[in-house]
Amino acid sequence: MFERLPGFRDFYPEECAVRNHLFRAWRSAARRFGFSEYDGPLLESLELFRAKSGDEIVEQLFSFTDRGGREVALRPELTPSLARLAGARAQSLKKPVKWFGIGEQFRYERQQRGRLRSFYQFNADILGEPGPAAEIELIALLIHSFTSFGLGAADFAVRLSDRDLWLFYLRGMGLDEEACAGVLSVIDKMGREPEEKTLEKLEPYFGEARADFMGKIASLRDLKSLEDMREFLLAHTTDGALREGIEQRLAQWRTLLSGLEAMGLGEFIRIDLGIVRGLAYYTGFVFEAFDRAGELRALAGGGRYDHLIEKLAGPEMAAAGFGIGDATLWELLESKKLLPRYVEAADLYAVIEGEAAREAAFRDVRALREAGFRVEYSLKPLAFGKQFKLAASSGARLALIYGSEEIANATVKVRNLQDRSEEAVPAGRLAAFIREFFSG
Ligand code: HAM
Repeated sequence: MFERLPGFRDFYPEECAVRNHLFRAWRSAARRFGFSEYDGPLLESLELFRAKSGDEIVEQLFSFTDRGGREVALRPELTPSLARLAGARAQSLKKPVKWFGIGEQFRYERQQRGRLRSFYQFNADILGEPGPAAEIELIALLIHSFTSFGLGAADFAVRLSDRDLWLFYLRGMGLDEEACAGVLSVIDKMGREPEEKTLEKLEPYFGEARADFMGKIASLRDLKSLEDMREFLLAHTTDGALREGIEQRLAQWRTLLSGLEAMGLGEFIRIDLGIVRGLAYYTGFVFEAFDRAGELRALAGGGRYDHLIEKLAGPEMAAAGFGIGDATLWELLESKKLLPRYVEAADLYAVIEGEAAREAAFRDVRALREAGFRVEYSLKPLAFGKQFKLAASSGARLALIYGSEEIANATVKVRNLQDRSEEAVPAGRLAAFIREFFSG
């Protein structure tokens, strides 16, 4: 028999219910923050991802040549599509643009816990706002997206970092733009690779001084306050322009942190310059969310990417955003017992005695479904007793009984399946009776 492909998931009704629960909560969170939903196609031209996402993602693409000879790829993330969509309408969009998207992504990852080849993401992005006001709003939404499931500051934290500060530091060491990007990509992977491998990759940039640089990275990662960051960075450069840049950048940090504090979100935030992000397009503040126990892969990641829209679509537009994956969040909610119990229950179950009762019963079944009730009945003609058993196991609160006596009297017998009370309701009053029962 056929098996599903590695890294892909089947969604039986129980799992679909969980997925719907996640999507519902994400949509509701985004709506509260004033974001509008968008989506793009699952399949895009390969070049869209090759252009700017970075080598790591390009190596993981599911790509092929279509029948028309086009090189195409299943989307590994939503951000390039968002840039394409927003860029195409840049002139007419009212700024700031606040958009969110929920969709399936595909990455040919190496098999490991929490890494799938198909997963869902909730993305939220703000376009057209260059200052940290955008990051405040985004990080607040990111946190709300987790707390709305019942998670708290004991369960997860957002680690905040800044590629700009890293660039000031690396430029102070004499590195040019290309070398800075190379070093940041080494730093991004260092937690997942053996130390020798990292040292080897740092060699072209630092030569003999590479071990010393590793020590500096560790010191940078230990900085936990703005004051410590300022002291460390200013101590490493005498260049006036860089020092000025560092001071200005730290002023942006103050705006961001005080905004989050004012929203009462300080307890969720950790300064952690060890976060640099793997995707190549990030430019300023970057952040990732993790479970506090440190057992799972990242729950979410994001940051600023001010040049991506211009590079992919032409118009200049500042941008920042994040993506939350469904898989890690699912694991975390499960471990904290915060997933709702899956219950499939009918509201009403029609018990129908023979052909003669079918017409009246079916008329009511349809009308009640149109009115919004979940109504079931046996697809096979069964004995009354069997139908009552099915009614009880369906989880319905009421059984609607269409027997020969009821048909003759133009009534429906309504049985409360919890307390077993019964009432004969005139056929014309049934809908009103049911509505009253369920609103009570
Ligand atoms: P990302 O860090 O690549 O960022 O992915 C965001 C989240 O998606 C991760 O933290 C993780 O929860 C989930 N995720 C990523 N890859 C996998 C995988 N193979 N299996 C399961 N879950 C995964 C982005 O995708 C950016 N486009 C986010 C963004 C939006 N930045 C700005 N706007």
